Amino acid sequence: MTENALVLHVLGARPNFVKAAPVVRALTELGVRQGIVHTGQHYDALMSDVFFADLGLPEPIANLGVGSGTHARQTAALLTGLEDVMTEHSPSLVVVYGDVNSTLAAILVCAKLHIPTAHVEAGLRSFDREMPEEVNRVVTDALSDMLFATSPEALSHLAAEGVDPAKVHLVGNPMIDSLFSALPTLDPAPVQARLGVSGAYAVATLHRPANVDDPAAARELVDAVLEVAEQVPVVVPLHPRGRQRLADAGLVDRPNLKIVDPLGYVDFLSLVRGAALVVTDSGGVQEETTMLGIPCLTIRPNTERPITVTHGTNRLVTPSSLPAAASKALADGATTPSGELPPLWDGAAGPRIARVIAAWLRGDNLSPAAKGKVG
Ligand code: UD1
Ligand code: UDP
Repeated sequence: MTENALVLHVLGARPNFVKAAPVVRALTELGVRQGIVHTGQHYDALMSDVFFADLGLPEPIANLGVGSGTHARQTAALLTGLEDVMTEHSPSLVVVYGDVNSTLAAILVCAKLHIPTAHVEAGLRSFDREMPEEVNRVVTDALSDMLFATSPEALSHLAAEGVDPAKVHLVGNPMIDSLFSALPTLDPAPVQARLGVSGAYAVATLHRPANVDDPAAARELVDAVLEVAEQVPVVVPLHPRGRQRLADAGLVDRPNLKIVDPLGYVDFLSLVRGAALVVTDSGGVQEETTMLGIPCLTIRPNTERPITVTHGTNRLVTPSSLPAAASKALADGATTPSGELPPLWDGAAGPRIARVIAAWLRGDNLSPAAKGKVG
């Protein structure tokens, strides 16, 4: 490895921090010089700082402070800010995560500056281009030099889009590495006591534009959550997006419904660990509930993570099917069709990714077998 090699990780939004932490840690163990560029897409302490603390992430070398805006305005601020950072630091490799606007912007900037890139969580597809994340995924994968896949179906999606299989590595899921690391510290009791919940309860998270941006969709969703709250107390750590719209639609504190600020990573997973049911539209939460064996009802027409349905506790629901599905899930508990967890979701994805990156920095030619599946 060249001693001067520098790896930069571009992070901007809550799920990025969770996915990056195991990769940063594993690269540190291999002695790779690296830095975090925080775009500032998420900026509230409870959407950002708490994750750096809970996950042990190092301080960013730069925070671009791009903040919120329309897609075009936010992406424009990301592009100019990231171009300056990349020009200043000339990294050997830039690692991007997931499917947020910060991911897309970093890939575009690096492609134009001829800086090599790696995409962690490559190849997920919902096949729904109305989701901003799907657009970000397709473009990011098309421009990435190294693609790290979390589940096997990603390999066929990438092949179908003409991505050279030699660039793709099936490594498992670093979000699950973070969950494994946190597991010994996940204690539901303190957060339950703080939030005043006991006995059986459900946790709900809602932030997809398709669910929360349109007042009519928000009302339909809130009505369905209120029906669930008639069966079991529901706690909602509410993402700032759509907070007002959901409140206007009736998602406010009432008996059996508790609306709270977003929770830090350890608090959130502790609350989930003690829950009888999770209702969500999050991507990551579908995966975490699969690993924790908690029934998960995902209010979306599709998922880019079908493995959480085939190999996990996740079921897709509509607002109208949610109340009955909740009643069934509360009665049946967690069930998984295959009875097997997703392959390579074993807590060692970060080290697999770090080994590939370190070999690449050294200029090693990986064998074709190692490229398909990194052991
Ligand atoms: C973004 C990602 C989404 C991901 C989610 C994770 C894109 C296109 N979307 O959605 O894929 O699932 O992050 O949480 O990148 N806001 C605050 N404080 C913050 C951050 C956001 O108040 O710290 C509010 C602002 O009103 C902002 C809105 O949330 O306009 C949306 O934020 P933004 O980052 O644009 O998208 P998310 O919905 O968070
Ligand atoms: N999460 C959290 N606190 C919360 C809600 C979620 O720590 O109040 C964590 C969750 O455990 C997962 C990540 O945030 O690790 C998922 O982020 P989010 O749902 O915002 O994004 P998505 O995965 O949908 O892109």
